[in-house]
Amino acid sequence: MKQILCSLMLLSAVGLMAQKGRIDIQGHRGARGLYPENTIPAFIGAVKLGVNTLELDVVVTKDNQVLVSHDPYMNDGFCRQVDGKSLTGDMKKDYNIYTMTYAETQSYDCGQWGNEKFPDQQKLVAHKPLLADMIDSVEDYIRKNNLPKVKYNIEIKCAPAGDNIMHPLPEPFAKLVYEVVKKKGIQDHCNIQSFDVRCLQEIHKLDPKLPIAILIADANNFKKNLEQLGFTPYAYSPHYILVNKKLVKQCHAAGVKLIPWTVNDEKKMVKLKELGVDGVITDYPNKAIQLLR
Ligand code: G3P
Ligand code: CA
Repeated sequence: MKQILCSLMLLSAVGLMAQKGRIDIQGHRGARGLYPENTIPAFIGAVKLGVNTLELDVVVTKDNQVLVSHDPYMNDGFCRQVDGKSLTGDMKKDYNIYTMTYAETQSYDCGQWGNEKFPDQQKLVAHKPLLADMIDSVEDYIRKNNLPKVKYNIEIKCAPAGDNIMHPLPEPFAKLVYEVVKKKGIQDHCNIQSFDVRCLQEIHKLDPKLPIAILIADANNFKKNLEQLGFTPYAYSPHYILVNKKLVKQCHAAGVKLIPWTVNDEKKMVKLKELGVDGVITDYPNKAIQLLR
């Protein structure tokens, strides 16, 4: 009996250690290296591969719908009108999503024309989905296929220069996103990220328990960045070239996870894991899963 108890304790300790050491593999824009970015096929594809987390971006339409899109406009690099016509004119002015209704956004296809930066992407007809529909599709797929839950890492695409032009002000923007999160009941398996601390502060006011990740592009002063945010976030997410031993130590001493973006090179993925990051955001979750798990 004593022996069985000891073995059980050992097994559960090993299990806990494995869980603790598990790296969070996040599929960037779903799995941009393999599918059209931020589309339902990309998110389902990433779930099938076995990511822990789906990274995605959100913007807002004229009729206040939260739409999954990296750019707050139709990007002529990979979007066309559904009749195949290329986009002409100024992308940001003439195809600004904040001036289009949700119905209007659906007359663009951002999947079947490919993306020359990602030649391995599958070419599929795909429209920018509503955040609510994306969550429903993913949750439905997981339920039907009896798969483990995934987390959502939702980036609010907000910047002072775009206020009231490309998107709402931080307060209404955060409210719109949080309403969807609440309605879909994903508070326990999502976090909100942004480069814009104003949006993160608004989300924190709405729900202080909701995990927040601060995105960092260059100014890598951990202490200052956290001071600017005004509270301790769940995660610090810098560009991967900013990761070093000192930063790993600083994050962990503060109880903050370190989850860099967007690393696609295999050697760099391994190096980051060796340095001790808690997760990686990648366009190629297939490579990361194979190498890092
Ligand atoms: O998750 C962070 C990363 O996605 C930030 O960069 O421009 O791809 O949204 P971007
Ligand atoms: Ca993003």
